Amino acid sequence: MGIRIVGTGSYIPEKVLTNFDLQKMVDTSDEWIQVRTGIVERHIAPDDMCTGDMAVKAAEKALEAAGIDGSEISAVIVATTTPDYNFPNTASLVQRSIGAVSAFGFDISAACSGMIYSLELAYSLLLQKKYRYVLLCGAEKLSCITNWQDRNTCVLFGDGAGAVILGRDDSCDSGQIASDLHIDGNYREILQMPAGGSRNPASHETVEKRMHYIHMLGRETFKLAVNAMTGACRKVLADAGMEGSQVKLVIPHQANKRIIEAVAQRIGVQKEQVFINVNKYGNTSAASIAICIDEAFRGGLLRTGDVILLVAFGSGLTWGAQLLRA
Ligand code: ACO
Repeated sequence: MGIRIVGTGSYIPEKVLTNFDLQKMVDTSDEWIQVRTGIVERHIAPDDMCTGDMAVKAAEKALEAAGIDGSEISAVIVATTTPDYNFPNTASLVQRSIGAVSAFGFDISAACSGMIYSLELAYSLLLQKKYRYVLLCGAEKLSCITNWQDRNTCVLFGDGAGAVILGRDDSCDSGQIASDLHIDGNYREILQMPAGGSRNPASHETVEKRMHYIHMLGRETFKLAVNAMTGACRKVLADAGMEGSQVKLVIPHQANKRIIEAVAQRIGVQKEQVFINVNKYGNTSAASIAICIDEAFRGGLLRTGDVILLVAFGSGLTWGAQLLRA
């Protein structure tokens, strides 16, 4: 029995914020941002559009590409760090909007690794015959938790959403080849939003101290990301008895071009095998891998049956890799 990607979609908000725009907001330069991160511009959602709205738009496109109706979806999983509300979950908005009347659903909080974690669950669910299609959305409105006065972080992030529908298909041998997932709470503090939860509920003080924004120690995160992502890629390739050269496309989480290139070099894949769009969107956290998968399919870089290696790293720390036959 095969499980394959039957449809993909993405949504990127129209408004573009360039490095030159950021030069007017904080003490930075286009050159610094491009050299250190590879980012040229990012997209910012309007005030009246939230994470769930973007997820719905991506999901609708994925349904159209799959040629199926929302009512055929068995489960809706939304990976996000910026849910519309603490509760209800964002999955319920997607479920209602696409008419997934037969589905159950939930959100996944694993920061930038959200799509890697979601895929693990989706493949497990689809091994059960009672589930036919699982909709996975990665969606973020990071602009609403970005401190636009902090040059260390505000140049990095952007908004957007991607969606992938996995479905059982007995006529193919697609599916999960290997996976390697991790969480390590020892580094919780290097990348976090300190307030807004039960530890530091919203108060005048938390707002004044700008605690509702992303706080990140960039240099430390960088080093940990390269090592963790490299390790996870090597593990899945070894488990599958494969070399990097046998992978059609490597789709890494898009946080920083230098991280991506360092990982690619360490696992022995060629530049042409690595999908990069961080230049256009910045870091869209849980959305980034789903957006890449959609762009790769629509751009003809990826077809059903191709072997893809997905890898991500994010707050938690969370990280992992998925080696899949698409
Ligand atoms: N413009 C100009 N100068 C800047 C800027 C900026 N936007 N930001 C920082 N600098 C300065 C710093 O103040 C520092 O100056 P100093 O040497 O006088 O102290 C100098 O540039 C170098 O700073 P570093 O932090 O060492 O720069 P680095 O090369 O590490 O790049 C970056 C910083 C881009 C943040 C990088 O460390 C990175 O990408 N880290 C990983 C991010 C990541 O992967 N996050 C994980 C996922 S995010 C999530 O889960 C939500």
